Amino acid sequence: MHIFITGAKGQLGGDAALEALRRGWRVTAVDRGDFDLTDPVRSITALALAKPDAVLHCAAYTAVDQAESEAGQAAAVNAAATQVIAEYCRLTGTWLAYISTDYVFDGSGDAPRDTDAIPAPLNVYGQTKLAGELAAACCEKHMIIRTSWVFGRGGGNFVKTMRRLGSERAEIRVVNDQIGAPTYTVDLARLLCDMLARPVTGVYHATNAGYCSWADFAREIMVQTKLPAKIVPIPTAEYPQAALRPKNGRLSPASLLRAGYTPLPGWEDALGRFLGE
Ligand SMILES: NC(=O)c1ccc[n+]([C@@H]2O[C@H](COP(=O)([O-])OP(=O)(O)OC[C@H]3O[C@@H](n4cnc5c(N)ncnc54)[C@H](OP(=O)(O)O)[C@@H]3O)[C@@H](O)[C@H]2O)c1
Repeated sequence: MHIFITGAKGQLGGDAALEALRRGWRVTAVDRGDFDLTDPVRSITALALAKPDAVLHCAAYTAVDQAESEAGQAAAVNAAATQVIAEYCRLTGTWLAYISTDYVFDGSGDAPRDTDAIPAPLNVYGQTKLAGELAAACCEKHMIIRTSWVFGRGGGNFVKTMRRLGSERAEIRVVNDQIGAPTYTVDLARLLCDMLARPVTGVYHATNAGYCSWADFAREIMVQTKLPAKIVPIPTAEYPQAALRPKNGRLSPASLLRAGYTPLPGWEDALGRFLGE
């Protein structure tokens, strides 16, 4: 198996490359320096030279709030560049795994969403990721994998921020009316490689099991790191951000189960393993 991984210096791409190497796969791992997504000619050339069996497209414009004022740039990276990769994959019969997000949904209600729920993104990031999904789906051999609240070694994330704040402050105010599932890059990378080893076209939801609010997540981080900071739950209205976020980010793993893939373990367990690394 020869896998081409974009965003290799990002949180997920880095761990996906490690997991693929661990399995003895040939890995072409690229990042902005050798594969700028906004340069279609270089992107196609890199893919055509590599001739992979599968592309795991992890790279994305992920600055959710900044995207509100940089919609063109976010769309170029998340939508237009995905279209170029999907076209390459379609023409060459290459499998494409595209990583997407719970932010394609509006977050209404409180039930976990299955993959056939109608997307209705609330922010520019979600809109551009949805456009990326539509582009990916033009390639017959595609898997669209939506995840949420990603944490791992390779970048800034909520766990790292809470650990820092937990050692600096006595109290941290954290939103408690947005619900979702924290997801550990190591667990997701393992699942993605399992999926690419036995690919089935479709849309999937892949997060660590269980749901919580950001405040619950922060409290568990304090417990597991034995930091004394008190978590003060607040409503989203008291933490204004440029981009609206879905209140209900619960994603159902039903389609993973239907395709015979093994869903991920619980998020508290995943957090413990991440902190123990
Ligand atoms: N983080 C989350 O909570 C979350 C939640 C749901 C879904 N997702 C999705 O999961 C995937 C992986 O997320 P992540 O957290 O691993 O992201 P990340 O750490 O922000 O990594 C994204 C990578 O994409 C690269 N990239 C951005 N613009 C590029 C361009 N023009 N050309 C080439 N590379 C470019 C970045 O390079 P630079 O560092 O040079 O910019 C970075 O290495 C993304 O598709 C994201 O949309 C993430």
